[in-house]
Amino acid sequence: MSKRVMAAIVALSVSGGAALAQEVKVGIVLPYTGIGAEFAQQMDRGMELYLKLNADQVKPYTITLIKRDSKAPNGEQAKVVVQELLTQDKVGAIAGFGYSPDAMASAPTVSAGKKLAVITNAGTSFITNLSPDFVRTSFTMWHSGYALGVATAKTLHAKTAVVAYTDYPPGKDSLEAFKNAFEANGGKVIDVIPAGGPGAVPDFTPFFQRAKDEKPDVLYVFVPAGDHALAVAKTYTALGMRDAGIKLIGPGDIVQDIKLQGMGDAAVGLVTMLHYYADLDNPQNRRFVAAWKKEYGAESTPDFMGVGAYDGMAAIVHAVQATKGKVDGDAAVKSLLGWKFDSPQGPIVIDPETRDIVMNEYLAEVVKGPDGKLHQKVIGQIDRVKDECKAQAIGPCAPKK
Ligand code: PHB
Repeated sequence: MSKRVMAAIVALSVSGGAALAQEVKVGIVLPYTGIGAEFAQQMDRGMELYLKLNADQVKPYTITLIKRDSKAPNGEQAKVVVQELLTQDKVGAIAGFGYSPDAMASAPTVSAGKKLAVITNAGTSFITNLSPDFVRTSFTMWHSGYALGVATAKTLHAKTAVVAYTDYPPGKDSLEAFKNAFEANGGKVIDVIPAGGPGAVPDFTPFFQRAKDEKPDVLYVFVPAGDHALAVAKTYTALGMRDAGIKLIGPGDIVQDIKLQGMGDAAVGLVTMLHYYADLDNPQNRRFVAAWKKEYGAESTPDFMGVGAYDGMAAIVHAVQATKGKVDGDAAVKSLLGWKFDSPQGPIVIDPETRDIVMNEYLAEVVKGPDGKLHQKVIGQIDRVKDECKAQAIGPCAPKK
């Protein structure tokens, strides 16, 4: 073979290889239908917006999202679509997981597939211990629950609390986190009330009536955001609990930005802790909210789920660049250990020890603004909050040996 022909063949195979490396397929697993459909829309929008606003960061690669519906929040369908994405679609990475059971049920499949899987919502703390391929850009229930437990004792000066929670893993986590911190700071949880599951909004009346009769200083509630949260504020008001001197508090999930205006005056005075509110006043967030409204309509708003997904797509783009488009599992995960990003929520970093996010938490009170709309007034801030369940190595949060 002449040298020239050889060179032509080499050039062809190099450019062929490079062309193949250009497209990175990312499998998206979200509850596009059913009770979590609004979560899916938020996260889908967050991911798409990141790609649109940061097209230059993605080059020379292209990212194709392959979207699959995880349906009901019980993990069954999530596991199936993760398997299909890995074996049939041959995706380079996975992102999503709206509900904890979806991530938990998928963990063995994710591990077998050896591809980076970025969790953009599911908040049960120990999930990241279930697979070395999980990296989380959302939150854990311990970030908000623990921080609020401390603030409830020290800032709100409450002595007694009743906790009502949706009875599945993140609800139990949120309860444990709050109780751990509140009681370590002199408070007492006098009752804990399991209040239905995530698959349907229960009637909260009997649960909250029981809490009212116990006359605590605060009622701490965790429900998955969405329609559950709307019902919480309404039931609290209907039962006259505010007038009875019981303050409603919880993680910011109970005042999700997309639901806030629909809560009306029932939400005024609620005190919550979270890493993101659309009202956060920082340059990144102002740009982010403006871009969101331009893209999805003036009446639309991002919320914490949109931000978790936006940050999650930023993480994936980082991993794609760091691995030169290959996104091979171990290298992709490794590239995110200690990864820092200026998120709309403030600075975030992935803890290299736990593959979980470290971020600021904001204590906020719902107020009515001069525009007649409800807003989150930040009344406290805690910087660089780590997941306390893993820091204290509690139960399954202890590192795997
Ligand atoms: C979860 O299932 O982990 C979950 C869902 C909704 C939330 C928080 C956590 O608002």
